[in-house]
Amino acid sequence: MHKLLSFILPAIAVGIANASPVPTYQFPPAPNFQTFDNVTVFQPPASWPSKSTSYGRTLILNQNCEADAVMLSTFTWRPPNTALPYLPIMRSTDGGNTWNLWSTVYFHATNQSGGGSILQPSLYELPQQVGPYPAGTVLLSGNAIPRSPASTNIEVHASLDAGKTWQYVSTVVTSGPPNTANGAPCVWEPFVHSIRDQLIVHYSDQSDPLYGQKLAHRNSKDTISWTSTRNDVTFSNYTLRPGMITMAEMGNNKWIATYEVGNFPALPASPYGVHYTIADSPEDFGKNTPILLKAKNTGTIPSASPFVQWTPAGGDNGTVIVSDGSYADLFLSTDYGITWQQVPSGHGVGYTRSLRVMPDESKVLVFNGGMYGMSSTIVTAGEYWVPGPYPKPSDNTIAACNGHQKLQQ
Ligand SMILES: *[C@@H]1O[C@H](CO)[C@@H](O)[C@H](O)[C@H]1NC(C)=O
Ligand SMILES: *[C@@H]1O[C@H](CO)[C@@H](O)[C@H](O)[C@H]1NC(C)=O
Ligand SMILES: *[C@@H]1O[C@H](CO)[C@@H](O)[C@H](O)[C@H]1NC(C)=O
Ligand SMILES: *[C@@H]1O[C@H](CO)[C@@H](O)[C@H](O)[C@H]1NC(C)=O
Repeated sequence: MHKLLSFILPAIAVGIANASPVPTYQFPPAPNFQTFDNVTVFQPPASWPSKSTSYGRTLILNQNCEADAVMLSTFTWRPPNTALPYLPIMRSTDGGNTWNLWSTVYFHATNQSGGGSILQPSLYELPQQVGPYPAGTVLLSGNAIPRSPASTNIEVHASLDAGKTWQYVSTVVTSGPPNTANGAPCVWEPFVHSIRDQLIVHYSDQSDPLYGQKLAHRNSKDTISWTSTRNDVTFSNYTLRPGMITMAEMGNNKWIATYEVGNFPALPASPYGVHYTIADSPEDFGKNTPILLKAKNTGTIPSASPFVQWTPAGGDNGTVIVSDGSYADLFLSTDYGITWQQVPSGHGVGYTRSLRVMPDESKVLVFNGGMYGMSSTIVTAGEYWVPGPYPKPSDNTIAACNGHQKLQQ
């Protein structure tokens, strides 16, 4: 889509005697091309018995003063002939166009049991010190399921060298064996980040007898001991299953969380109808009522595995961007989550396809780990240009490292 924004400011000079023209930032036109599209991040070799990948996640490093757009990514995979499962960490130094394997991460619960699987990764870079970990520490969370499989274990791992080597930090929560049936206690789908001087991990929780599944979080000040479970999203109807939370801070300083709601009634086309909650902070989602996401231009309700980002690009309010697991399209809001538009993304549909606003803030990296449950998938990445005016280039992404002590390399 091509949209030329011309800012004509006839009113500025009116009534201001002798005022020199107010300098205004000229928005360049939104480009009508993509600089790269659908590059292959990883394709399981033909020799691998299981060629299934999923659940891609990305991160832009900058707290340690990395050069322009050093990125890490991860996804689930099943490499053959390995006694122990591990997650790959891929690295890109060209904004997500090309990727190389950078490191591998083993988890505690799967190491202990001598096998099993690691699901549902989440990547984050600390913007400030938490416990012993300085700003610039890279965190990886995920759900480790031992060989038996007797339990689900949400773990946090840390890297002090930009993702090259990793250490186990702690286990946020352990629950029963993996089983998506309501009533079977277990945990899923961590989202790791930080608030104030604490780590905070949001996740899906089936262990509360009041709810088939709920969204909840735990905090840690020292990164080792975690608070008890605090609710984020619950439905009084036991059957409903809010899950797969991701969140973003918007330009009005409110936070938006998106999540699927399994078994949502009266929506045969959207059995995992995407909902969202807006709150003052990541700890306050439980205070507000979930809202069903429905596109104003099409009536579409996105379904399953959403992912949300906010960018200042696209207008006065910036743009909230939501991806889901049922449509190739994206769902945009330029009024902080009041109304939504369904727009073509230029990319293929994927299970929990992830989004990452790039440093110029008008480009979003769409990262597709592959569709859930398929026997053969590839991991792809491509750019999406946010329609509307570019934001004025800001220092907030790449220059954020200023003032932080550089980590030892
Ligand atoms: C798991 O085992 C691997 C292979 O022996 C080892 O390199 C890694 O440090 C272990 N990690 C954890 C978290 O136990
Ligand atoms: C609870 O949700 C289920 C699944 O969608 C639905 O069949 C049922 O009618 C709902 N119960 C109530 C009381 O709304
Ligand atoms: C910005 O958002 C507010 C509400 O959050 C809305 O009233 C207003 O119309 C939006 N502005 C634009 C340019 O969309
Ligand atoms: C991406 O490329 C792969 C082959 O590399 C192809 O199978 C797939 O359809 C492409 N997806 C899109 C959205 O272009």
